[in-house]
Order: sequence, then C-alpha cells, then structure tokens
Amino acid sequence: MKVLKIFLYVLVVLAVAYLAVVIYFYSQDPFVRWDWSKINVNDVCYPKHFLWGTATAAYQVEGGFSNNNWTWWENQKKADGKPTIQNNDKCGRADDHWNLYPLDIKLMKQLGVNAYRFSVAWSKVMPTPDSINHEALKHYQDVCDSLIANGIEPMVTLFHFTYPLWFQQLGGFEKQENIKHFVRFARVVYKALGTRVKFWVTINEPVVFAYSSYFAGEYPPGKTDPQLTARVALNLLLAHQAVYKAIKSMPRGEGKIIGIVKNVTQMDPYRRFNLLDNLIAYFADLNFNQAYLRAFKTGKFHFFLPGMVNMKQDMPELPSTLDFIGLNYYSHNAFKFTGNIEQSLVALPYPGEQMTDMDYTIYPEGLYRAIKRVAKLDKSIIITENGIADSLDNRRYMFIKRSLYALSRAINDGYHVRGYFYWSLLDNFEWNLGYSKRFGLYAVDYKTEKRTLRQGSKAYVETIKLWKNKCVRKN
Ligand code: GAL
Repeated sequence: MKVLKIFLYVLVVLAVAYLAVVIYFYSQDPFVRWDWSKINVNDVCYPKHFLWGTATAAYQVEGGFSNNNWTWWENQKKADGKPTIQNNDKCGRADDHWNLYPLDIKLMKQLGVNAYRFSVAWSKVMPTPDSINHEALKHYQDVCDSLIANGIEPMVTLFHFTYPLWFQQLGGFEKQENIKHFVRFARVVYKALGTRVKFWVTINEPVVFAYSSYFAGEYPPGKTDPQLTARVALNLLLAHQAVYKAIKSMPRGEGKIIGIVKNVTQMDPYRRFNLLDNLIAYFADLNFNQAYLRAFKTGKFHFFLPGMVNMKQDMPELPSTLDFIGLNYYSHNAFKFTGNIEQSLVALPYPGEQMTDMDYTIYPEGLYRAIKRVAKLDKSIIITENGIADSLDNRRYMFIKRSLYALSRAINDGYHVRGYFYWSLLDNFEWNLGYSKRFGLYAVDYKTEKRTLRQGSKAYVETIKLWKNKCVRKN
C-alpha cells in the first residue's frame, strides 16, 4: 500500500513538473494560429508616416565582386568535395544592380514604395586595409541622391554577411582586435553618406552569420566550431556597439537612427505537448533568439549550448545602443526529439503548413509573434526583411496579403512599428543556395537582366495604394 502511495505521489509530482515546464515554455512566446477563412486580409490600417520599402544586399544584387570572403568561398569545395554553393553557382554579374540602379529605382517608384534598404560593399570601398576607393563611395552617393530625388528614403546596412578577403585573412570577427577595421569602414561610409542617410543598420542578422559561418560551416570561412561561434556572436555585438558610438560621435551623428537587424524565427516544438520536443525547441530558441534579445534588454550576453559552450559576458552599454530594432521575419521552425541530440537540433518545417521554396513554411502569424517579442526591448521596430521564395509565384500574393494583415494587426494592437521592407526587390544570389531561390517582387532573367513584375507582387502594390488612399492611422 505504502509503495503504491509513493508511486502515485511521484507520478503526480512528475505530471505537475511536466506541465509546468511545457506551460513555461509556451508562455515565453505563445503559439498563435488564426483562422484565415474568417479574416478579411484587406481590413488593414497603417500609420501615416510609414516606411514602405524593399530590401537588398550588395553581394546579392550588385555584381562585380572580387577580393571578398564570398568570392573566395564560391571557389572552395566542401569537405565531401561538393561545391560550396548550390549548382556550383558563382555570384558573377548578379542583377548588375551596380550599373542598373537607375532602372531599379524606377521599378521601386512603380511599386509605390518610399524607402530602400541596401548595403554598402566593404570590399569595394576598402580593397586593402589602408586604402579607400573613392569611386565606389561616389557610386553610393549617386545611389542615395537618385533615391532621394525620387522620394525614396535610403537605409544603409554596413555589414550584410560579406567583407574584404583581407579582413577574413586577419581572422575577421573571430578576433576582438579586428573590430577596429569595421569601425573604420563605418566611419568612412558615414563621412560619405552621412548627410544623405538617416537610417543605419550596423549588422544584419549577427546570429545567422555566426551560426552559418562558424557552426554549420555553410558560409565562409566554413568552420564548425561552437566556441568560435559564440566568440563571433559576441564580437558582432561589440562591433555593433562600437559602430553605434562612432557614428553618434561624428558630425550630425546624434540625429541618426541606428539599429541592428535581428532575424526572429520561432522555434516551436513539433508536438505541442511533448516535453522533449519543448526542451529542444527551448535550447534552439535560447541560442537563436533569446540570448540576443536579452543582451539588448539587460546588457548580459549568455551563449549556452549544453556540453558544447557556455560563455557569459556583461555588456552594460549595449542596451543604450539601439534607436530601433530591425526585425527580419520569414517563418518558424519545428523541433522533434529523436533520441539523438544533434539530430534533434536540426530544424524541421512546421508540420501541416504550406511550404515556401525554402525549407520552411508559410506562417504569417509568426510576424505578429515576432513583433510582440521584440517589442519587449521598448524600441521602435522596423521590419527590415520579410518575403517569400516562390518560383511558381502561386503563393506570393497570399503570403504578402497575410503578412501585411499580421503587420496591421500588430500595429492596431499598439506595437510601435515604423516601417516594412519587403525582401526582395529583385531575384538575387541567395548565399549558399546560389540563384536557385526566387525572392524578387521582380523576376530577373539573368541572361538579359530583364526585370518583370510578378503577378503575386501586386499584393504589395495594392496594399500601399490602400494605405495612400484611405487607410491611414494617425499615430
Ligand atoms: C536573410 C538575409 C538576406 C536573404 C534572406 C532570404 O536571412 O538577410 O540576405 O538572404 O534571408 O533568405
């Protein structure tokens, strides 16, 4: 009898503990699912002064790169002898945006957007540590002038996954002492563009870069070292902080709006009430989202992968180095415990949802969740990327409508979002996936460089029109 009692007692304690853990994980970022059949996606409203933009990054669209970490990477082989880039693609001329930017600005006008996010190529501006290519700087000045003349607000990203090969050879962001080179580049760019550009992004998706380059080995330098991953992640935050301070101390720097871009991907359990799935998802979230959001909120950075790395660093100044948080949102991931930790940490597409052409699903509710989550930083929010790879163009329209509905719903619920940038203006070079993915509002024929507006992209044009004509909130 006594044994049975003890057994029952243990069972109850376990059940309560189990529920408590699942409820705790769930309460961190509750799962959201809307019944789209009951939603009018045109029931939307946005603030009067809203940035409607498209986004690109230099390496993915400009063409004409050399001496860059990615041009080097394109010519390497993986350990198994396979090419580093899908289909052995090389970036090459890309969209020739370097030369065709006047045409591309016309295309932006045709969309009705009023903002453009692009990055400045460090390897073009500083071909060696001590030299500055003034022609390259002049190019970016011309781009800004042309944008402004067309009523389009420029937003500049300083580091979007690529840097000069010399910087990689010095050890890149693996070494704290190398941050000074990035700060120098930022100062050079700011000096050239500071009078033209109000919105600055220091670093695009530090976690994605650290993880893809140093953990998964998919981006240059192709390493797979958890300790280095943590160090690079930390150094990127330090680099952000240093660049923020450097720009703020330069002429007119105080008035600039400077932020970092964080990609928020929800890490959800594959089976909602499975404790082990919840645990795996929790650790994935901790290292992909929570560690960084917490660092910007509290000044304490903690990178913790059980059995692999446990790194803590106080960064008391970090929370005061954000004028806005840039939010990139694409989808959520699912995690399923398989018995093997490493295997369980492989992100799966969320079950039961429609796929994009990437290995993740369409989940517009996640944009709402991501906004809600980054809002905890108490900074204004700009959606710096959101988009879909859809070569058949049979999901883009719905994706855009639903995502913009989620955006409107978040704004309506009081979240302070100042802008939305669609990824991407054009089809482009999707990093290790090469030219296989089609994210563009405009399809690009890479042989002729002809751009064609996709049918599905009209959802974006329509919504911007709706905003212009009648659906403007006063806040
Ligand atoms: C983001 C990245 C972009 C683009 C996009 C689409 O993570 O910042 O450069 O590649 O994903 O996958």
